Amino acid sequence: MSLLEDLLENNEQWAADLLKEDPSFFAHLAEQQSPEYLWIGCSDSRVPANQLLGLMPGDVFVHRNIANLVIHTDLNCMSVIKYAVDVLKVKHIIVTGHYDCGGINAAMQKQSFELIDGWLRNIKDIYVNHLDHFNESMTEKEKLDYLTELNVIEQVKNVCHTTCVQQAWGKGQELTIHGLIYSVKNGRLKDLKVNFNNIDNINDLYHIS
Ligand code: CO
Repeated sequence: MSLLEDLLENNEQWAADLLKEDPSFFAHLAEQQSPEYLWIGCSDSRVPANQLLGLMPGDVFVHRNIANLVIHTDLNCMSVIKYAVDVLKVKHIIVTGHYDCGGINAAMQKQSFELIDGWLRNIKDIYVNHLDHFNESMTEKEKLDYLTELNVIEQVKNVCHTTCVQQAWGKGQELTIHGLIYSVKNGRLKDLKVNFNNIDNINDLYHIS
C-alpha cells in the first residue's frame, strides 16, 4: 500500500470517528468558522497547534513558519493577522516558540543555509541586539533557550506594532496578544507573561490612528 493510501485511510477513519461522536460535526463547521484564537507557531512537526491545545477543528486559526517569526514585510503572516483580527475577530493571538527549535539553533551558527539565511538573520539580530542579556557563564543550551524566549517576546511586540492590531485596539476591540513557549521534551506550554491588550505599553511611534 502506498503512503498516500495510508494517509487517506487514516483520514477516512478520523472523519468517521468524529461523526460517531457528533453526526452534525462537519455540517455545522461547514457553515462558518469562529475561532477565538490565532496561533502563530513554528512549522516544527512536533508542535501541532490543535493537538497540544486539546482543540478541535474550527477552534484555532493557525499560522506557522520557521521559528515563529512575525516580519512586517511578510505578506503571508500580515494577511493571516489581518484576516484573524478584522474578519474572524479572534480574541487572542498566541505567539508560541519552542525549545530545541531548529531555526533558533541554525541562526546561532555561522554556516550558510542559503535561501533561509535572510529569514534566520532576523533571529541573529535579536541575539546581537540583546548581547548584554547573555554571559560567558551560560551554557550553549542555556543561551539557545534564552534566545528562544527573547524571540517570542520580540514577535509578540511585532504583532502589537501592526497597523491592524493598533486599529483594533483603537476601536475598543477585545484582543490580547500572548507569548508562550512549548517544550518538545514534556509536551507542556509555559506562559512567558508578556500579555498586551491595549496600546498603553506600546511606544508612541507605533500608534496608528
Ligand atoms: Co522550531
